[in-house]
Amino acid sequence: MKIEAAVLRDPGGLYTIEHVDLADPGPGQILVRIAGTGFCHTDVLPRVPGYPAAPPIITGHEGAGVVEAVGPGVSGIAPGAHVVLSFDSCGRCDNCLGGHPAYCAHMFRLNLTGGRSPVSDEEGKPLAARWFGQSSFATHSLATARNVVEVDRDLPLELLGPLGCGIQTGAATVLVALRARAGSSVVVFGAGGVGLSAVMAARVAGAATIIAVDLHDNRLDLARELGATATLPGADPDLVRQIHRLTGGGGAQYAVETTGSPKVIEKAVDALRPTGTVALLGVQSGPLVLPPTALAQGKNIMGVIEGDAVPQSFIPRLVELWRQERFPFDRLIRTYPLSAINDAERDSASGVTIKPVLLPGS
Ligand SMILES: NC(=O)c1ccc[n+]([C@@H]2O[C@H](COP(=O)([O-])OP(=O)(O)OC[C@H]3O[C@@H](n4cnc5c(N)ncnc54)[C@H](O)[C@@H]3O)[C@@H](O)[C@H]2O)c1
Ligand SMILES: [Zn+2]
Ligand SMILES: [Zn+2]
Repeated sequence: MKIEAAVLRDPGGLYTIEHVDLADPGPGQILVRIAGTGFCHTDVLPRVPGYPAAPPIITGHEGAGVVEAVGPGVSGIAPGAHVVLSFDSCGRCDNCLGGHPAYCAHMFRLNLTGGRSPVSDEEGKPLAARWFGQSSFATHSLATARNVVEVDRDLPLELLGPLGCGIQTGAATVLVALRARAGSSVVVFGAGGVGLSAVMAARVAGAATIIAVDLHDNRLDLARELGATATLPGADPDLVRQIHRLTGGGGAQYAVETTGSPKVIEKAVDALRPTGTVALLGVQSGPLVLPPTALAQGKNIMGVIEGDAVPQSFIPRLVELWRQERFPFDRLIRTYPLSAINDAERDSASGVTIKPVLLPGS
């Protein structure tokens, strides 16, 4: 079928809106009409020289929409269902079977390489379009039975896509991967979409001290409204000492690192109390070098993907918390028509918008 999609043709260029051909759903596949799709920083990876998923490509991996058709062998989901699209996984490897699909043995191939494509352009040439099992910067997307999560029809569907990646990642890191305890202390480095979701989740978990660190004052203001009990400027030379002071002298039990900066990661480790854990979420921008005794006293560093969530159980939990006004993720979102995707990318990079959501239908 003919669909409209935002295509990245040149690593350094703008997205172009094109009319392309999408194949019919094959075995195990689900055709979804996209109502809204979030812009996540991971979507810019194909701009990095040498990255395996190269332009021309359709990215987008925070889609939500309505099922239009299902391929052979799909059961339990029917046309008309409202779904959030999340990351893909194989369902058969040890980690999938053990309830950790974000650590699927085939995670990279299924989500980050673009894969064999169901999309061809106006000249009949294939475009990479299996990004996170969806490539949802488009009016329609082919997902799989493994990466759709059905949601209630009374919800604002067009806003739900980011629950499939960035928001899930920040929240599940606190609630699932770290299992932050009530009364504990959590410090979050970077108050973007991922970090602010971690802040909201820390409040849900009942953390007593929640510290957000960022370079932008407006993001720190929002962090306080969403549950941070204190905020600190990232440029403060006394940052680590301030965190120790705010956590009663011992340091934080949990740190969530979303900036990817090795220097910030080092500070996050320093800010931990003995036995504390830092979860690394940001795409790391260089090698990490730590002083010899940095991890003494039982400190832990854990790399985390998608918060170690099982989307089919975790996303409904977030939706219920949103209904109870305990997880107001919609406050992070600003919507754009799909045709304004270049503005959305610019506003996300400059910090003007925390979580852009593109509306392909508008
Ligand atoms: N691990 C995963 O599964 C996963 C999932 C989604 C996103 N990500 C990654 O997580 C990262 C964060 O995503 P996001 O959407 O929240 O991005 P974002 O750009 O909205 O947020 C990052 C924040 O870090 C702040 N920051 C940058 N340098 C800083 C410093 N030195 N000190 C303090 N704050 C600083 C920025 O001001 C910004 O607010 C990205 O690298 C993204 O690719 C990882
Ligand atoms: Zn697997
Ligand atoms: Zn993402």
